Amino acid sequence: MSQLNITSPTTSSAIAQTLAGKKILLGISGGIAAYKCADLTRRLIERGAQVQVVMTPAAKEFITPLTMQAVSGKPVSLSLLDPAAEASMGHIELAKWADLVLLAPATADLIARLRAGMGNDLLSTLVLASNAPIAVAPAMNQQMHANVATQDNIQALSLRGMMMWGPAAGQQACGDVGYGRMLEPMQLVALCEQFFGPKPLAGIRIAITAGPTREAIDPVRYISNHSSGKMGFAIADTAAQMGAQVTLISGPVSLATPKNVERIDVDSAQSMHQAAMQHAPTHQIFISCAAVADYRPSQVADQKIKKTDDSDQMTITMVKNPDIVASVAALTQDRPFTIGFAAETQDVERYARGKLDKKNLDMICANDVSVQGLGFNSDDNALHVYWPEGDQALAIANKQQLAQQLLGLIAEQYKH
Ligand code: C5P
Repeated sequence: MSQLNITSPTTSSAIAQTLAGKKILLGISGGIAAYKCADLTRRLIERGAQVQVVMTPAAKEFITPLTMQAVSGKPVSLSLLDPAAEASMGHIELAKWADLVLLAPATADLIARLRAGMGNDLLSTLVLASNAPIAVAPAMNQQMHANVATQDNIQALSLRGMMMWGPAAGQQACGDVGYGRMLEPMQLVALCEQFFGPKPLAGIRIAITAGPTREAIDPVRYISNHSSGKMGFAIADTAAQMGAQVTLISGPVSLATPKNVERIDVDSAQSMHQAAMQHAPTHQIFISCAAVADYRPSQVADQKIKKTDDSDQMTITMVKNPDIVASVAALTQDRPFTIGFAAETQDVERYARGKLDKKNLDMICANDVSVQGLGFNSDDNALHVYWPEGDQALAIANKQQLAQQLLGLIAEQYKH
């Protein structure tokens, strides 16, 4: 008979009190991921947080208020119109009590109601009445998440400064596979710790280039590329959340400016070069994420170029653009720690290390753009980062999670 190996359970005193005294209002809406909220609450409390649970009527169908009361050690708030609850801690008091409002899981319906500014249940009313930072952990079917209405709502909430924590991709309760899974309890705990913890990039100024450039042919036409700017914007957003002062020099993209980021819009490689050379010397770190056009038409026609009947061909003579990241790396005064990107389709390490040397960079982040679904215009990416004495692979993840890992690595090498 095999021996049962009984180890003593981890006591809460053995766990670092990273959230000591933090007041977290956990808002649960009606999605299947609600069953994970009992574990989430326990993990937060183990780390010293106080958790006050608020549930929507639909949430009660997935996990009972009694369970949440038992794990949180506090009565669960359920209704806006409950005289007894209002007599103890009323909804306005609750809204003022929180250091952080964490909405997990946040269903498509809750997100839509928040976007509309509705107060038709206790949870949405609390969000309206709260001044506290709000983190949203979306959880829903992947098709509901991809729906343009939901995407639009998520973007609107982000623009208002709410933090979007997830969703993750993977197998869903309904059998679908895709984006829409709530982050796991420990991932949410880690984000709470990061939110309340020391900011690893506090006091560091970072300039980032992002997006494509446009090289004019005439007043209505240009040459450009498929860069969406998502990676550069994710880095800017994450760097700001990690405490950095961020200047984002962006080519033409249709993305919202991340919170607490100063954005400078440019168009051509030359205008990006000018902005980069002006700002790089006042920043300690320069990250060149933009897909800069290597060449531009040697002449920009004053008027729209007309089709002619005498030839089926048209020739545009191109001249080389300045290499922005190499120009920054060549600064002899106030040179920032300089990081480039390399999109490669083959022999990734050799080409990436070649660019690291040739452009005199401190680090280079290579991505294999021959892999379908990664890199350009995608939400996911994988990177291999090289620096003179080492390298590290960052596995496939969404661009936000990847940005966090990359910035951790950059901070390590910069401080090294
Ligand atoms: O040489 P290649 O274009 O592959 O190098 C890519 C890196 O160089 C990226 O970091 C990109 O932002 C930067 N780059 C630049 N200016 C250019 C061309 C590329 O800053 N004209």
